Amino acid sequence: LIAPASANCLAKFAQGLADDLLTTLYLVTETPVIICPAMNKSMWHHPATQDNCTLLQQRGVMIVGPDSGSQACGEFGLGRLTETHIIIDALRLVSVCGQLKGQNVLITAGPTREALDPVRYLSNNSSGKMGYALAQAAYFAGADVTLISGPTALPIPFGVKHCSVISAKEMHQQVMAHLHQGAIFIGCAAVADYAPLSVNTQKIKKSNQDAPSLQLTLNSDILADVAKANKASLVIGFAAETNDVLTNARKKLLAKNLARGIANQVSEALGDNNEGSEVTVMAAETQMPLPLMNKVRLAGQIITILAKMATK
Ligand code: C5P
Repeated sequence: LIAPASANCLAKFAQGLADDLLTTLYLVTETPVIICPAMNKSMWHHPATQDNCTLLQQRGVMIVGPDSGSQACGEFGLGRLTETHIIIDALRLVSVCGQLKGQNVLITAGPTREALDPVRYLSNNSSGKMGYALAQAAYFAGADVTLISGPTALPIPFGVKHCSVISAKEMHQQVMAHLHQGAIFIGCAAVADYAPLSVNTQKIKKSNQDAPSLQLTLNSDILADVAKANKASLVIGFAAETNDVLTNARKKLLAKNLARGIANQVSEALGDNNEGSEVTVMAAETQMPLPLMNKVRLAGQIITILAKMATK
């Protein structure tokens, strides 16, 4: 990991110069390399720097950043060192570099909110972390990634196109609008299965008589509709279960006609809002358990499995 890397450094790496300790180390390093550029915005935009970055990327180097913002020289623009948490994610995901080059990946993440009235809604505990980690991993793997997300408190993953939605209906519309021929689709969102049959235009008032009863209607199943549309080259679904995890996940896989399903147990220890997760990647007849690990690392492993399927 070379962070920060100046324009001069990038030029030396691209040309194979080894006239100091850093460039000599770079030239003898046989492990994957991540470079995080940081420089004045005009130096970053100069064709010489851009060409050097392209050359390094073609040789398998992972370039992370730069970010946009105010610079030490007083200017404003692209050239700031990427945020530390993104650099750490890149380190966790270095093994996926190049695995999905040229692929289009569409991911859903987070919960949906189904409005009851202007201030209340039905929703769930999904943090969106797994979907966001998958989007980040797919980007570092070289894919063009679009993330359709319900409301979460997470920062938009680096390099990922982000579309924010509220309800399952909206998520369905945006997924269908962004679904390209040949794309890899990963349904990671905790989509509400039901929505209130009607939405009150004004706040529902408390009554001292009977508690109101809710009439619900079934939401369309986004994942099943993507599989039916026959546009995606791979359709992957998640099944978060509290009991009989593998049996229930396999049932969903078959019912929704998916290439692969990813089953995970929802419990207090391994719930939706955790940094770590333990999942099983399953096909109609096989299953591959992945041990408990950080969601970003796990996303890297899942992307590696999907990349192998995508290139078969
Ligand atoms: O809710 P369920 O357990 O069936 O979710 C399994 C998978 O189906 C998840 O990948 C989820 O994103 C997807 N799903 C969907 N649209 C729904 C319900 C679930 O895409 N309406």
